[in-house]
Amino acid sequence: MPTGHVFIATSLDGFIARKDGGLDWLILPEHDGEDHGYAAFIKDIDAIVMGRGSYEAVSGFDTWPYDKPVLVLSRQLAGTTAPEALSGKVSFADLSPRAAMEHLGRQGAKRVYVDGGQIVQSFLREGLIADMVLSTIPVLIGEGRSLFGPTGGDIHFVHDRFLSFPSGLVQSRYLLRP
Ligand SMILES: NC(=O)c1ccc[n+]([C@@H]2O[C@H](COP(=O)([O-])OP(=O)(O)OC[C@H]3O[C@@H](n4cnc5c(N)ncnc54)[C@H](OP(=O)(O)O)[C@@H]3O)[C@@H](O)[C@H]2O)c1
Repeated sequence: MPTGHVFIATSLDGFIARKDGGLDWLILPEHDGEDHGYAAFIKDIDAIVMGRGSYEAVSGFDTWPYDKPVLVLSRQLAGTTAPEALSGKVSFADLSPRAAMEHLGRQGAKRVYVDGGQIVQSFLREGLIADMVLSTIPVLIGEGRSLFGPTGGDIHFVHDRFLSFPSGLVQSRYLLRP
């Protein structure tokens, strides 16, 4: 079974997107091209699993940002084929978090990037997240799509690392407590 890894940015009040999916608040006025550790993180990732919400957001970008295979979990999209431009890069499936990880494991993945609020929540509930890099943007947006939600019980982490960037972004890495 591969391990699940989260690398995600939230507003100060814990949202990953506005209600309508807007991400404009993520852009830091003091941003200087710093990637906040993303390249180092993605280098060690074998596959990406995300929810339909995240897929729909990313597929609207000018360029597809991933060079790793992406599995999109979706009841709506399961059974459909990826758009031609994403052929071989994206697949759709309606799988439980555990079944998705087993599927990616059979394909050789050892470390899986888990992305999207609802998806992260469902993987957390199944104990499938080994660590989380959480970047906090210094803005309150008041309402939006939450990173966290019901957990079905307490989930304990160890705080592993803290970084503060000139851009104003602060970042913590949490490891699932054994
Ligand atoms: N700030 C950041 O760093 C960051 C990172 C990633 C994404 N985002 C933003 O976050 C938004 C997407 O997040 P989100 O929480 O709305 O959606 P999400 O987690 O990306 O996708 C949720 C959808 O995935 C499908 N799904 C399939 N299996 C599931 C399961 N086991 N658990 C939960 N969902 C499952 C469902 O779609 P069906 O109805 O098709 O089954 C569900 O509606 C986008 O706006 C994106 O731009 C921000």
